[in-house]
Amino acid sequence: PDPSPTLVLLGGGGDLARRMLLPSLCHLDMDGLLPEGLRIVGVGRAEGDAASYREEARQAVESRETIKAKAWEQFAQRLDYCPADVTKPDGAKALAERIGETGPLVIFFALSPSLYAPVCKALQAAGLTGENTRLVLEKPIGHDLDSSLAINAAVAAVVPEERTFRIDHYLGKDTVQNLIALRFGNILFEPLWTSRVIDHVQITVAETEAVADRWPYYDAFGAMRDMLQNHMLQLLCLVAMEPPINLDPDGVRDEKVKVLKSLRRIQPNTVREDTVRGQYGPGNVGGKPVKAYADEVGQPTRTETFVAMHLSIDNWRWAGVPFFLRTGKRLPERRTNIVIQFKDLPHSIFGPAAQGDLVANRLVIDLQPDEDIKLTLMNKSPGIGGEGMRLQALPLSLSLAGALGEKPDRRRIAYERLLLDVFRGDRTLFVRRDEVEEAWRFVDAVADAWDQTGMVPKTYAAGTWGPSGVYGLIERDGHGRTWHE
Ligand code: BG6
Repeated sequence: PDPSPTLVLLGGGGDLARRMLLPSLCHLDMDGLLPEGLRIVGVGRAEGDAASYREEARQAVESRETIKAKAWEQFAQRLDYCPADVTKPDGAKALAERIGETGPLVIFFALSPSLYAPVCKALQAAGLTGENTRLVLEKPIGHDLDSSLAINAAVAAVVPEERTFRIDHYLGKDTVQNLIALRFGNILFEPLWTSRVIDHVQITVAETEAVADRWPYYDAFGAMRDMLQNHMLQLLCLVAMEPPINLDPDGVRDEKVKVLKSLRRIQPNTVREDTVRGQYGPGNVGGKPVKAYADEVGQPTRTETFVAMHLSIDNWRWAGVPFFLRTGKRLPERRTNIVIQFKDLPHSIFGPAAQGDLVANRLVIDLQPDEDIKLTLMNKSPGIGGEGMRLQALPLSLSLAGALGEKPDRRRIAYERLLLDVFRGDRTLFVRRDEVEEAWRFVDAVADAWDQTGMVPKTYAAGTWGPSGVYGLIERDGHGRTWHE
């Protein structure tokens, strides 16, 4: 029989492995979904052995929920640990020896992207990048276009694109995939999905958490590179792309790349109007006083923890429709949603009494923490008094959590689906090389414009919706646009 498969977690003791990967793998195991005989080898520079790693993993998994002893034992048996510095040939060789004979080999890079290139080289020298190997790369791929080109080239030198899986965990979320179902599984929306009917689109990814312990990574990247370059541009692509011919990996990715290529570059002379950069100061979140970002870092810093942008997509469908994006840490609530704001009626047949009642239709897609879709429609206000017909806006509302029935399935961690897809070799939900590079081209132009104009982040009080300029960004044109709160 074929030897069993092996999954290697580089950065096996790190934040991502503890918070996401180990819990995901444990749940997949409990549901009987992991490949038979799968071994999981954590790799890190810290000393340790299989026993200490199992203990570390148990604490990580149990910090989310209690696992039955028998299920845990079964999972723990799969775990092993190899202390090694895999940026060095000797470290990679030690890993190869620890892995020994194996079937399919999946190597997950949960590392700083600055290490991806040297690690690829060392893995190859140690004979770990043969035909049986798939590489999984966590975002961000690089820090800018040049570094992402260098990483992608280093990866391509050891494994082909077909065996490279670039993760953007937003694509593993059910609610994000539902955007495809909503747009292309219904005939209702597609004819309306154009600049003739849509006034503008808003995408919000708001978090209440601080950066806290992750600051050494975060401070080198900031909100634009950590969230907008990847998760938010992916959401924008799913909203804006043309219908793909099918769900084949390249069918969808070809359409997403076209959107990224159509994004108008923000220039130094437009950057102050089209972007807002913020950093949280001290404030109040959830009724508790919290520290400023700079105090978490321990010194003054110019990294943004909030970014908002006005984007334009220069193509036939979206000409003249602004897309407003905002994301930040330490905002008043956790909320990810997409708002499609339709235009006003061209003409009202209702009398003066109803003039103030008319509200343009709006489709709100809540992705997290709530999972709902609401379409605001105008209705007649009930009753017979008064002069002329009065109207009211009411939502047609679909609660996705409720739709799952009495006992909804546990909401899966996005990484579960993506890890399964890696084992199966399905690349549909992974980001292709040219997508990453196009997204960097857009983001680099903004970063350059910030540098050239000396645009540094403005402070916002933790627990507020960002610096005040964020309102001007959307309200500026006098179309009555405003953030959907
Ligand atoms: C990660 C970012 O990719 O996504 C984090 O690095 C962020 O800074 C996280 O908190 C948000 O993910 P989610 O699934 O909680 O919305």
